[in-house]
Amino acid sequence: MTDQPVNDSGLVAFGIDTTRPSVARVYDYFLGGKDNYASDRELYEQIMKIAPEAPVWARANRRWLSEVVTWLAEEAGVRRFIDAGSGLPTAENTHQIAQKVNAGAAVVYIDNDPSVVAHGRALLLDNDRTQFTAADLTKPEEVLADPAVATMLAAGEPVALVMALMLHHIADYDETREVARQYVAALPPGSYLAITHACNPGDGGPVDLMVTELAEKVRHAFPTLAFRSVEQISSLFGDLEILEPGVVRLADWHVPGGRVAEDPAIGVRDAIYGAVARKS
Ligand SMILES: C[S@@+](CC[C@H](N)C(=O)[O-])C[C@H]1O[C@@H](n2cnc3c(N)ncnc32)[C@H](O)[C@@H]1O
Repeated sequence: MTDQPVNDSGLVAFGIDTTRPSVARVYDYFLGGKDNYASDRELYEQIMKIAPEAPVWARANRRWLSEVVTWLAEEAGVRRFIDAGSGLPTAENTHQIAQKVNAGAAVVYIDNDPSVVAHGRALLLDNDRTQFTAADLTKPEEVLADPAVATMLAAGEPVALVMALMLHHIADYDETREVARQYVAALPPGSYLAITHACNPGDGGPVDLMVTELAEKVRHAFPTLAFRSVEQISSLFGDLEILEPGVVRLADWHVPGGRVAEDPAIGVRDAIYGAVARKS
């Protein structure tokens, strides 16, 4: 912990380094959150100069999460969710979305950012169907051995594993694939994998230019951040069946059998892609 005693909300938990920006806090700031420090806000300003649409991406990502979890709970009948790389609690979190459809839905959140751990645990104290695990997702063996995760998987019922804006924080592509593969291998049949991921189309167009510059400028703070091609993101699903509409920009995504929601706020420079897949 640094000698800076408090942030805007008056809380600094043990282990929080306020001198360096945190992915979770910068992202939360894009969503209008209050758990941030000068280092986070500085990086936010740098990002906004290159990608002023970043707050729109964050909101589109949360809307995607809400649509996916609602669809999984309502239409696919999923009652167990693992939200891996959950981030700071915001307006509508996975357990609130799932439990609105089914009060008995169980959720395990996983994150390794000390800010998230502190706030996540506090938020969930009064909800016995929801648990929080502090763990490094790049270590699947340890995560899968965690009691909350292991108990959920051992039930043998379909589980929805949500990895929203998380896998692009693993720098090495082969490692990212291997991490995803190990989690998918542990999921019971009938489970789902839902991913959103930063994308570089690699076509020399406006999005390519923007994210190339963005990656360069934020490297000092987020050295492992990796924008990947649609093909690379698709192959993170391994041999799972990717549901319609496939791996697409969030602006083009819709629930299977549904329609793309109207969202005039989403611009053309959309660098976040998402998809949902099913394990047979
Ligand atoms: C951009 S936030 C996304 C939050 C939320 N999933 C969403 O989409 O709204 C990424 C989150 O992934 C977490 N994360 C990144 N790498 C991680 C790792 N190796 N283990 C656990 N959590 C990680 C960060 O701490 C952060 O909270």
